[in-house]
Order: sequence, then C-alpha cells, then structure tokens
Amino acid sequence: MAATPDILPPDTAPAPMSAALPEPATAPVPRHVAIIMDGNGRWAAARGLPRWAGHHAGIASVRRTVEEARKAGVRYLTLYAFSTENWKRPSVEISALWELLCRFLVCERAELKAKGIRLVGIGRRDRLPLGPRTALELTERLTAGGQDMLLRLAIDYGSQWAIAAAAQTLARQALAGKIAVEDITEAALARQLQPAPAGFGPHPPASAGAANGSRANEAVGGEASYAAAGDAAANDANVVPMRSAAGQSNGGAAAAGEENGDAELAAAGAAAGPETSAEDATTVPPPDLLIRTGGEVRLSNFLLWECAYTELWFTRELWPEFERESFATALAEFARRQRRFGAAEEAPDRRAEG
Ligand code: FPP
Repeated sequence: MAATPDILPPDTAPAPMSAALPEPATAPVPRHVAIIMDGNGRWAAARGLPRWAGHHAGIASVRRTVEEARKAGVRYLTLYAFSTENWKRPSVEISALWELLCRFLVCERAELKAKGIRLVGIGRRDRLPLGPRTALELTERLTAGGQDMLLRLAIDYGSQWAIAAAAQTLARQALAGKIAVEDITEAALARQLQPAPAGFGPHPPASAGAANGSRANEAVGGEASYAAAGDAAANDANVVPMRSAAGQSNGGAAAAGEENGDAELAAAGAAAGPETSAEDATTVPPPDLLIRTGGEVRLSNFLLWECAYTELWFTRELWPEFERESFATALAEFARRQRRFGAAEEAPDRRAEG
C-alpha cells in the first residue's frame, strides 16, 4: 500500500524566512484563530513527570499565545481546554485540570482586563464543579469591558453536543410557533452556535486598541476586509446575522445563552433586538485558522460546524513547546493560503479573508 502523504512539516524543518509576524499592512491576519492544545501528556511522559505536569507546562504556552494573538491583531481566539469526552480521563487528572484552570483564571484576570482581553467560556456549564464555574463566571464579569480581543475557553465543550443543543432550541421555537420550520436554516443554526457576548462586536471602538497599545485596532487585512465582505461568499451567512422570516434575528443568541446557562449571552441576544446588522453583529465569525499541536491530524469534536471553510494547520510540536515562533509560522502559512469558499477561483480582494 502506498504511504499516506505526510501533511505535517518535518520536526527538523527550519522556520521559514517568512515566519516573523506578518506586517498588518501587507499580510492578511486571521480574524479568528482556534487551537487544539494537544500533547501535554506526552510532553510530561517524556520527562518522567505525571500528566498534570504537562498541563501545568501548557499554561505558559496559553499565556504566550494569547499575547501573540493580541499583538498580531487576531480579534477572536478560541482555545480547547476540556472536551465533553475528557471526562473519560482518570479523576486525578481531571481534578488537576480544574485546579489549573482555576489558578489560571484567578491569576490572569487582572492582566487580561488590563490588556483589554475579554474572556468567555463556551461549552456546558451544568457539569462544571463549583470552583472552576465560579472562577470562570467571575473572570467573565471582570473582563466584560475588554474590547481588544475575545478569548473563548472551550470547557466541557463538544461540537456534537453544541449542534444538538442548537437544534433543540430551534425545534422548541418552531413547536411554540415562534418560527417556521423553514426558518431553521444554516444561518439560524450559526446564530445559535456562535453567539457573541453583549458589547463585543467585529470592530473595536475607536479608543479601545489605542488605550491598550495593541495592534488590534489597526487595519489588519482580515479585519478590514471582513467588514467589506457582505456579499455572496459561501460562508457569509455564518458571519452576518440575518433576520429570519419571523424577525428572530437575535433570538438565537439569546436562546443559546440560556441553553448554556449564560445569562450574559442570553441578554446579548435579547438586547440587540431584531434589527441587527453586520455592523453590530452578535455572532462570532467562524475560525479562519485552526491550529492543532501534538502531531494528531483530526478535529476531535471541536467546532465542527464552524470549521466548514477554516484553514487547518497541524504541527508535531507538543503544546508546551509551542513558542512565539510557532504561532508566527502558523500565521505566515495562513497568509499564503488561497481561500475560495467553494468558488472556482480566488477573488483578488478576498485572499485569506473570511
Ligand atoms: C490535551 O493534551 C490537552 C488537554 C486535554 C488540556 C489542555 C489544558 C491546558 C493546556 C492547561 C489548562 C488550560 C487553560 C486554558 C488554562 P493531552 O493531555 O491529550 O496530551 P497527550 O495527547 O500527549 O496525552
């Protein structure tokens, strides 16, 4: 049997010359990056350490990557911290993960706030132990004014669960006569799955980035061109909330918030009202770039709906080894990709956009 082509770069490959962070004026920056932070256990095992020590080491990579993403002008960063399947792990490892998550949230929240980074959790809330749940909700509240970047932590998150929950919400609305069955469209599901928190839109207010000394406010390729892309691109329905026939444009976000036990997200959907436009979108755009460390080449139930047209980038590096240069290499590779969204050829002004 012929060998499967290796889509992972060799470990020994030198970083390409273009691995430095792309210049915002010239290179497109992904508006939304999602990361599967894999390889902590193997990193620890290679050093004769318990698995939790790998997760502990992984926190430094989280800090580095959050900072690099913000500096690069990434507006949305989604990190897969704990999946709905991770409950199958030994209880000692799960407890250690909750402990580390609490420590991260408590220790980092002041700095996140100072840097204008807003943190929200996505995933099930109902099964979280009280400690991490409380720490998460306090951090969400404390950082709620952040305008530079939205950091989404996927905790007890599974894409199949999220899709089923969204379908249930829409089915309930249809049963109650609030929407027609025909209103259960791709756009309606996207609104359920990707609610943005209240007050965090696709564009930061003019003062936000300047106050925080961030590059996020500058006209990065992805950001600026997304705004202009209200046309017929295949995935625009996922980005721009549209009114349903029943005028329920934000019922989705509201319901998804309620479904997740997140009153703030529910309020976000309810407050925006039915006249939502692209300019005050309450929907998080799908990831432009998904990074997976640790050498596995799969999605592991992460953002399956949202990644329909996401660029995928895999590396053998284990998550604790994921350095600034690794992130820069991923961004540089993204800048080289041609995105067509199912169209025959690339539109000249849509290179590496959403
Ligand atoms: C996968 O590696 C990693 C996880 C299941 C947890 C990720 C958690 C962290 C990086 C630390 C806490 C996170 C935050 C956001 C503070 P693995 O254990 O499956 O590694 P392996 O494949 O080598 O066994």
